[in-house]
Amino acid sequence: MVENSWEWFISKFESLSRIDLTAYKRPQMERRINSFMRSAGANDYKSFLDLIRNDAPLYQKFLEHITINVSEFFRNANHWDILQNQVLPLLLKDRKSLRVWSAGCSTGEEPYSLAMMFSDRRIPLSDKILATDIDQNALNKAMQGIYTSKAVQGIPPAYISRYFDYQDDKYQIKKEIRDMVHFKRHDLLRDPFARNFDLILCRNVVIYFTEETKNKLYQRFAEALATGGVLFIGSTEQIFQARELGLKTISTFFYQKIK
Ligand SMILES: C[S@@+](CC[C@H](N)C(=O)[O-])C[C@H]1O[C@@H](n2cnc3c(N)ncnc32)[C@H](O)[C@@H]1O
Repeated sequence: MVENSWEWFISKFESLSRIDLTAYKRPQMERRINSFMRSAGANDYKSFLDLIRNDAPLYQKFLEHITINVSEFFRNANHWDILQNQVLPLLLKDRKSLRVWSAGCSTGEEPYSLAMMFSDRRIPLSDKILATDIDQNALNKAMQGIYTSKAVQGIPPAYISRYFDYQDDKYQIKKEIRDMVHFKRHDLLRDPFARNFDLILCRNVVIYFTEETKNKLYQRFAEALATGGVLFIGSTEQIFQARELGLKTISTFFYQKIK
């Protein structure tokens, strides 16, 4: 492998971080990494690696840059309406409580949206909502549950007054809602998946992955669902091989495991 080539960099970077960049779409990733590298003052991958090895804050900043953790509460509100009015009643027809996973949860907006909705609707959980991400910094922010006024804009006002504490111009998710979520570092490309979920959300995560990685992931999500369980995906995503995976479309962006 040629020293200083892209392939060389991603193999060295994997030894350093355990993040496998071959699974991500190359043009997008290469662009992001090269622009970060230049702004850090490095001219090639070798000097950039030396820089991030010796500068922990820069390394953290770089990890945040490549994992792209933009999120929103109730992102695509109309899909959350479908979740509340169609999918949850369907799931609760033959279940007393639900086992739920938010995969690629970033800074917590998605699992907390679930927790608020579940609390409001008095939907019982069999366990805490599992919320996982590869980015430990994002998870640390998520666990604190502190958001700006801009971040809470899309939340129904009744939820804001009920589920947040307001202090010093910041909104913090109340402890009772934080306690409904279990945050955990987990790499979707490397770590084993738990099983028997009734609802899995994986939204705006696979968009960064190659087609091959994406297909493998959907297969693993299908295996992680209990029969009748539902996978909720992002608004620009689609599962082309749904039928082969034993999944049925119940509404756009919602797939139910039928066998
Ligand atoms: C754009 S955010 C999506 C957040 C949320 N699901 C939403 O839709 O608002 C993508 C998240 O995927 C995470 N991610 C990227 N690669 C991952 C991997 N291999 N395993 C787990 N999470 C990953 C990133 O760290 C980031 O927080």
